[in-house]
Amino acid sequence: MSKVYVFNDFGSPENQELIDRPAPQPGPGELAVRVRAAAVNPVDYKIRTGRYGRDQSLPAPMGQEISGVVTAVGDGVDGFAIGDEVLGPVVPGYGAFAEDTLVRATDAVAKPAEIAFADAATIPVAGATAYDGTHQIELEPGQKLLILGAGGGVGLMAAQIGKVHQFTVIGIASQAKREIVESTGAMFVLSGENVADRVRQVAPEGVDLILDLVGGDALRQVAGLVTDPARIISAADPDTAGKLGGSALQRTREAMEKITGVIEYNLVDPHVSALYPLDRAGDAIAAVETGHATGKTVIEMN
Ligand SMILES: NC(=O)c1ccc[n+]([C@@H]2O[C@H](COP(=O)([O-])OP(=O)(O)OC[C@H]3O[C@@H](n4cnc5c(N)ncnc54)[C@H](OP(=O)(O)O)[C@@H]3O)[C@@H](O)[C@H]2O)c1
Repeated sequence: MSKVYVFNDFGSPENQELIDRPAPQPGPGELAVRVRAAAVNPVDYKIRTGRYGRDQSLPAPMGQEISGVVTAVGDGVDGFAIGDEVLGPVVPGYGAFAEDTLVRATDAVAKPAEIAFADAATIPVAGATAYDGTHQIELEPGQKLLILGAGGGVGLMAAQIGKVHQFTVIGIASQAKREIVESTGAMFVLSGENVADRVRQVAPEGVDLILDLVGGDALRQVAGLVTDPARIISAADPDTAGKLGGSALQRTREAMEKITGVIEYNLVDPHVSALYPLDRAGDAIAAVETGHATGKTVIEMN
């Protein structure tokens, strides 16, 4: 048997538990992976609340992104073999907070030896989203990228990618994240009331792109700072971004491979700030569910 963390009903975290199941077997085109690390994302608890629908069968395995070692290969798989170290998004329904899971071979990327399993687990969702959010609209060196939610999992990586491209990065976050946001080379601006005035102090002409990782009122407060409303991209709240003239962050297939290379060459640090064992997956999810996580929270398997 193999352990997996699930929720048994939509709603609150009380419905989560660690259960045993037979280790998943790969179908055509799939890899079975012994999970070494899985990163936690806001989407994990959002799915559990039911806000994305309630048609998923229960118990529902939790988690989206993993790194690990291939233990079996399905029919028709090219390019991967048993023993390979990989990272990737899991096949829907199998979960990431698990000892064993499945990844489609076409979604998997070979894990470079230089990247630790914990860091690699942050690449398929958070890393790739940071990559897409900084490439969907290409800025020129010196142009201003405003990141709302700069101290979280996506934000810290996006800030570093922005610096690699020599953008002027302005990161909005709470006071506790000042040091870590500044360590990326970004200018720190304190979140909260009158945040737009504080951004104007460092960018009197406004900004060239807003990458929104928070949404709602926080986005509405800063939206007027962008020179062109079409240059608002949101990973957190596409509806509000759309009403303001912006758009949803679009995910691309190439992002995962590209950001893997960037991390391999030490140009971006995923900032894994908290590690939990699988039997404390609930605490790991709760830490992200506060909405105020720093960097990435990762669950490591034995
Ligand atoms: N569409 C996609 O494919 C995709 C992929 C990944 C993530 N997302 C979404 O993108 C968002 C960010 O993801 P994430 O993984 O980076 O989340 P995260 O790690 O939980 O970070 C969110 C950050 O937002 C900050 N924050 C909260 N309220 C704020 C405010 N009013 N002003 C400024 N910062 C504020 C939090 O810390 P402080 O409050 O302490 O500053 C926290 O660091 C989530 O909504 C997630 O669901 C979408």
